[in-house]
Amino acid sequence: MPAYALIGAQWGDEGKGKVVDYLAAQAQWVVRYAGGNNAGHTVINEDGTFSLHLVPSGVFQPQVSCVIGNGVVVDPDVLLGEITDLQSRGVDTSRIFLSDRAHLIMPYHIRLDALEEAARGREALGTTGKGVGPAYVDKAARMGIRAGDLADLEEGLLPRLKQIVEAKNRVLTKVYEDAPLSLDDVFDRCVQWWGKLKGIIGPTDLLLQDALDRGETVLLEGAQGTLLDLDHGTYPYVTSSSSSAGGASAGLGIRPQAIIGVIGVFKAYCTRVGSGPMPTEMQDETADKLRERAWEYGTTTGRARRIGWFDAVAGRYSQRINGFTSLVLTRLDVLDGFPSVKICVGYRVDGKAVDHFPGSTGLLERCQPVYEEMPGWDRPTAGATEMAQLPKEAVAYVKRLEDLIGCSFHLISTGPHRDETVALQRMI
Ligand code: IMP
Repeated sequence: MPAYALIGAQWGDEGKGKVVDYLAAQAQWVVRYAGGNNAGHTVINEDGTFSLHLVPSGVFQPQVSCVIGNGVVVDPDVLLGEITDLQSRGVDTSRIFLSDRAHLIMPYHIRLDALEEAARGREALGTTGKGVGPAYVDKAARMGIRAGDLADLEEGLLPRLKQIVEAKNRVLTKVYEDAPLSLDDVFDRCVQWWGKLKGIIGPTDLLLQDALDRGETVLLEGAQGTLLDLDHGTYPYVTSSSSSAGGASAGLGIRPQAIIGVIGVFKAYCTRVGSGPMPTEMQDETADKLRERAWEYGTTTGRARRIGWFDAVAGRYSQRINGFTSLVLTRLDVLDGFPSVKICVGYRVDGKAVDHFPGSTGLLERCQPVYEEMPGWDRPTAGATEMAQLPKEAVAYVKRLEDLIGCSFHLISTGPHRDETVALQRMI
């Protein structure tokens, strides 16, 4: 004991990387439990700006060990590239561990992600194209390759891989009329991966269970966001894993009771990349201004993010799914200077009020936001480190969000750097 989960409360890109980096100073372990390199967590510290896709954002803290848990799908080339990049920038990577039960993103997963998206045409999900969805499909279909399988290359892996590559080639050539994969090439990649990764692959569930028994602090770094969760998000416009708090213990192999705190990270407005409903989306000058000011472009794909006012109906839903015990508000400074700010407090469909976040994507698409408008603030919040430095209108906005979500903010981020933070209460 204890573990704390840090969860994206919206559609991802809430600024979790900065918050994990900030909180990691008080942790001994920072661990990823879901998603893959579809995630992009940005950390800015004294050594520069880092975009992490697989390595947990606690890697910069000397006392922290990092685990990539069984619930993550891992592209070994991306992981190796990220480790090499960190090393070349002087970051110690000797305490990164990869679960032997984590599934690997294989070359055919990346090919299929692109082909399946193209085949969806107008119904495309807008995936990041990293092979994440197809890797989770194979996990559930019991035809995945796990990191630990690399330890038994010739006798264990090769016969299974032969069968799998034959099956994938039937799909690639017959369904998509694409070129087949060579078993030898795929197997050679596996041999190389094992050579480079064998030192970090192991039973990370045991590592974490022992750490919890010793009373060490484990910070679980969520990826994506609750509204992209496979079950609780805006299906089918979701990612393929359990990104909400419920996925955390399964994605690591730790007991659920160990997670004594669930920290929800909200951005002060909404963004979304890819397709799917977003009731407060704006397609006007305000959205463009916000996007440019906040540089709302994807860390992983570079795509322009869709922008909307804060959706408190979705926020309340997220609170109930995850049971947040404390909240973080990020990017408050981005709203500096707007004459007024809006919060969506309800929806209307066909003239009727809807006060919950609907499970039906079709219904959600028809939801019209009902806004509450609050005065903006012209004094900057950017760089503030104490509540007293925030304009009273900004404080009122924060308080109103708390009321609507049903939980308190214990940390407010007012800029990308570690120290641009208003810490109101210790969270871990
Ligand atoms: P996939 O996870 O690549 O399959 O993409 C499925 C959907 O989730 C797409 O709409 C992506 O844009 C979105 N998505 C996946 N990862 C992230 C993330 O880290 N931040 C924001 N959106 C994401």
